[in-house]
Formats: sequence, C-alpha cells, structure tokens
Amino acid sequence: MSQAPIQIFACQNRTCNRDGSAEVLSVLQSQIQANNLIGQINLQATGCLGQCGNGPMLLVLQAETRQEVWYDRVRVEEVPLVVQEHLLSGRPVADMLYRAKHPRRSSAWTPLPPPWHTI
Ligand code: FES
Repeated sequence: MSQAPIQIFACQNRTCNRDGSAEVLSVLQSQIQANNLIGQINLQATGCLGQCGNGPMLLVLQAETRQEVWYDRVRVEEVPLVVQEHLLSGRPVADMLYRAKHPRRSSAWTPLPPPWHTI
C-alpha cells in the first residue's frame, strides 16, 4: 500500500487536549471527508509532539519532500482555512505557522489569546 501524499499529526496529549485538540481533530476529520481528501491525507491522532503549551498543535508532513509545516494554537474555526489553503491549494497558511519552527513568519502576525487559557 502506498503512502498518502500528506500526513497530518494532530497532538492529542494532555496540554493540547486541554486547549481543544479533540475538537480540532474532529473538525479536521469532517473537512477531509467533505472535501474528498481521504486517500490523499493520512490524519493521525498522536501523542506529544514536544511543543507543549503551544497547542493544539498540528504537523503537516509532505511525504515526498519530507517538508514539515507546523501550526500552533489551532482553533476550530481556523481548520477550514488550513484545508482550503494548504491541503487543497498547496499553500501553507503563513499567518498560522508556528514561529518556533518557521521563524520567518510575518512579524505582523499576533495570535489571538485562546479563551480556554483564562478558564
Ligand atoms: S501535549 Fe501537544 S505538543 Fe505536547
């Protein structure tokens, strides 16, 4: 069996889960199905990706090139943008890139404060 062109690792470990990773995973699964991307995308719920406190964390891996794209603090409402721009159009969402892994991300980008951190 050949490998899907894109693998997505969605951390479901403790701190990402506290910050809403299960909902992000669920919406991502729905969006992949709705856009007929099954077979193109291998979505995996994973353990800790080593970036705790910056989640929900998604790692998108291009199988052929091994290009890694990291998204941090992903919110449910941002998932359709990742699907449309990155998965369907091949353009990673620059403003959502994880600064620690993609240091040249736009300096204008400021993450919205996740409300779940204030609870
Ligand atoms: S708990 Fe998600 S990166 Fe560690």
